[in-house]
Amino acid sequence: MRAQQVRAGFVELYGTEPEGVWSAPGRVNLIGEHTDYNDGFVMPFALPHTAVAAVSRRDDGVLRLHSADVDGGVVELRLDELTPESDRDWTAYPAGVVWALREAGHPVTGADIHLGSTVPSGAGLSSSAALEVVVALALNDLYELGLQRWQLARLCQRAENVYVGAPTGIMDQTASACCEDGHALFLDTRDLSQKQIPFDLAAEGMRLLVVDTQVKHSHSEGEYGKRRAGCERGAALLGVDALRDIPYADLDAALARLGDDEEAVRLVRHVVTEDERVEKVVDLLKSGETRAIGPVLVAGHASLRDDFRISCPELDLVVDTAMSAGALGSRMTGGGFGGSAIVLADVADVDTVTKAVEEAFAAAGFTAPRVFEAVPSPGARRLV
Ligand code: GLA
Repeated sequence: MRAQQVRAGFVELYGTEPEGVWSAPGRVNLIGEHTDYNDGFVMPFALPHTAVAAVSRRDDGVLRLHSADVDGGVVELRLDELTPESDRDWTAYPAGVVWALREAGHPVTGADIHLGSTVPSGAGLSSSAALEVVVALALNDLYELGLQRWQLARLCQRAENVYVGAPTGIMDQTASACCEDGHALFLDTRDLSQKQIPFDLAAEGMRLLVVDTQVKHSHSEGEYGKRRAGCERGAALLGVDALRDIPYADLDAALARLGDDEEAVRLVRHVVTEDERVEKVVDLLKSGETRAIGPVLVAGHASLRDDFRISCPELDLVVDTAMSAGALGSRMTGGGFGGSAIVLADVADVDTVTKAVEEAFAAAGFTAPRVFEAVPSPGARRLV
């Protein structure tokens, strides 16, 4: 249905049929937050919400971009004039991908692109990664570049880091490119090795809710960069390449070496314990003890709130309220400072938990949250 809408939008704008239509999803992260730029573990899964792109090649060095979600006409850019950090709006994501492909030597000579996305933006659900990955996959197919999914994810990350100018890790792009229906993706961000972990909550009588607090994390970039720099400083103080290299068993000794460097202690403790939590969740899911992941999620939230200090009152209220109302587990997900939380609950408790969270938000005078069920969905693919 959406493929047809986006295809029709393309025909209306550009006057011809697109060569194809592709989609790429947003994601939620089950566990493993702020570990990806520390070479650690993450465990996202794809949402049913996707960015869809209708695309055709051009051979005249021109990139034309249009989004159904943004007011304004077609934006026309010349490929040889694409410059990092020059675009300040949504066009930076698709343009950055084209820039990254060309910079890596791939012969992309132009494109007409029409996009439409159902991934909520600013909600910590990777709407920008979805835009990047859908464009990368389309150009990979059309120009027959032969790049693998993980390579597309790396190029998209480069687009985001260098062209857009946001110092993010590799999780979101890899999730959008590589996730599979019905599975969570256990990803080692050091070498991008992956394991698809079956994650079918419905079969076990549970649901995973996403609660979008509607707090936009637009001011997060500076804080994100500070956390990243702080982690790198911690690794340097401990004499390792990345915090991933501190085994959980050595954590106490590592913290002792950091002495009274309170900030380094907090950041290192979060990252090392979070990697341990990802491994614990993987083990629990593999052994069929899905309900037991609940407390691990809650411990992850406490660590992000108290040690990494990237939560906010709205996210804390979701977690506290959901747990008091009978949820099995809950935590903030994504970069933090707003965005979304996840809630794991038995089917029978979903309505009670949802109502409790909505009422708590109303009582606190917060904007009403948007609550929806997240079902592990397919990664990026060609639709037409
Ligand atoms: C954002 C970034 C990711 C990751 C998360 C935190 O989503 O884009 O690379 O660092 O924050 O886990």
